[in-house]
Amino acid sequence: MATRKIGIGIIGMGWMGTVHSRAYRAIPDRFPACDIVPELIICADEQEARAEKARKRFGFAECTTDWRQVLSHPEVDVVNIATPNHLHLEQATAAVAAGKHVLCEKPVGRNPEETAAIAHAAEKAGVITWVGFNYRWPPAVQRTLELIQDGTLGQLTHYRGWFLVGYASDPYSVLSWRLQEDLAGMGALGDLMSHAADMAMMLVGPITRVIGQRETFIKERPVATPGQGDHYTTNKDGPTAPVTNEDYVSALVRFQNGVHGTLETCRVIQGPQSEIGFSIHGTKGSIRWDFERMNEFELYLAKDEPERGYRRVMTGPQHPLHAHFSPGAGIGLGYDDLKAIEAFHFMQSVARGEQGEPGFEQVLAVAEVQSAIKRSWASESWEHIKPID
Ligand SMILES: NC(=O)c1ccc[n+]([C@@H]2O[C@H](COP(=O)([O-])OP(=O)(O)OC[C@H]3O[C@@H](n4cnc5c(N)ncnc54)[C@H](O)[C@@H]3O)[C@@H](O)[C@H]2O)c1
Repeated sequence: MATRKIGIGIIGMGWMGTVHSRAYRAIPDRFPACDIVPELIICADEQEARAEKARKRFGFAECTTDWRQVLSHPEVDVVNIATPNHLHLEQATAAVAAGKHVLCEKPVGRNPEETAAIAHAAEKAGVITWVGFNYRWPPAVQRTLELIQDGTLGQLTHYRGWFLVGYASDPYSVLSWRLQEDLAGMGALGDLMSHAADMAMMLVGPITRVIGQRETFIKERPVATPGQGDHYTTNKDGPTAPVTNEDYVSALVRFQNGVHGTLETCRVIQGPQSEIGFSIHGTKGSIRWDFERMNEFELYLAKDEPERGYRRVMTGPQHPLHAHFSPGAGIGLGYDDLKAIEAFHFMQSVARGEQGEPGFEQVLAVAEVQSAIKRSWASESWEHIKPID
């Protein structure tokens, strides 16, 4: 197979922009057999110092403060959008109109309508799309999917999913863009529920109806300084301003295949730090997993368990893609490795010209769930999933 070079342009060189840069660089090392070489062509950040620092750090050929230069660059095949959510609609629709393949970070739009507009624009342009639903990729999660699909767990009966994080649990955590409706759009519903709903639908199937609730527990926070810090930054001095989106969202869900479920997300919880997880129950067994212990899962198979206890399984080279990172069980992957797997699948999709998952079709399904949860806040009753206008 001839080596395929794919030109990469990244917009937004904050946390995700740097993680994505590292992920593209990891592909020839972690997945040498695929013969794909992503080339870091140009990176953009409105903060010149960040753009320049990223250029030097990751070896981009160029950098800019004008994101439109990424789209017009002739050597860029793929535009990777890692800016705050309020910029995604304009940047993603312009990128697909320029004929570029696009990876956009979740939740893609600020609200379900923006996500739908972006998805429809990309479909019309006929480009390959991808979404940063990286929690699909731990070997334990992929093994769970296999055990569901091959019938090991039997007929699924119920599912519990959650994403509980403490990044804003300190009341002095600054009012970053994530906590402002005009910049982020949805709060926990966008930031965290997007991952939790995608995980649930990947493992169990489409959701057909929901009823949800929400709360903003910390209503006022210190104002952030633009271009400084991240969403873990705290400040005890200075002016404060209101939080304008929700800290907490939970929902009862029904899946198309009859499975009952609950989803819960919170960004101000005390205790869990970055706990996305699930507990899945079927007629023959159960599995539970969470990201804070990413490299293991707990399996209960009724036929094998006279003591009626869960078995702890360490992930190892026998599990999907683990061997690309380490030859032994218990020598685990980290968050950035999930981004390398994500970049690998996306690059393969681009190289083959075949849309893979998760693309914008999957984030549109998530947006339809978010839209129904929002409607249920107002109606206080079950809402059916339906297409977004
Ligand atoms: N998949 C995941 O696990 C995950 C994790 C964190 C964030 N995200 C998503 O990634 C995106 C970015 O989040 P982040 O944590 O990296 O944010 P961040 O604040 O760390 O970085 C955003 C960067 O965009 C830059 N920027 C702002 N306006 C710009 C413009 N007009 N042109 C170019 N650059 C501009 C900022 O200067 C900053 O460097 C969000 O959509 C977020 O929801 C996904």
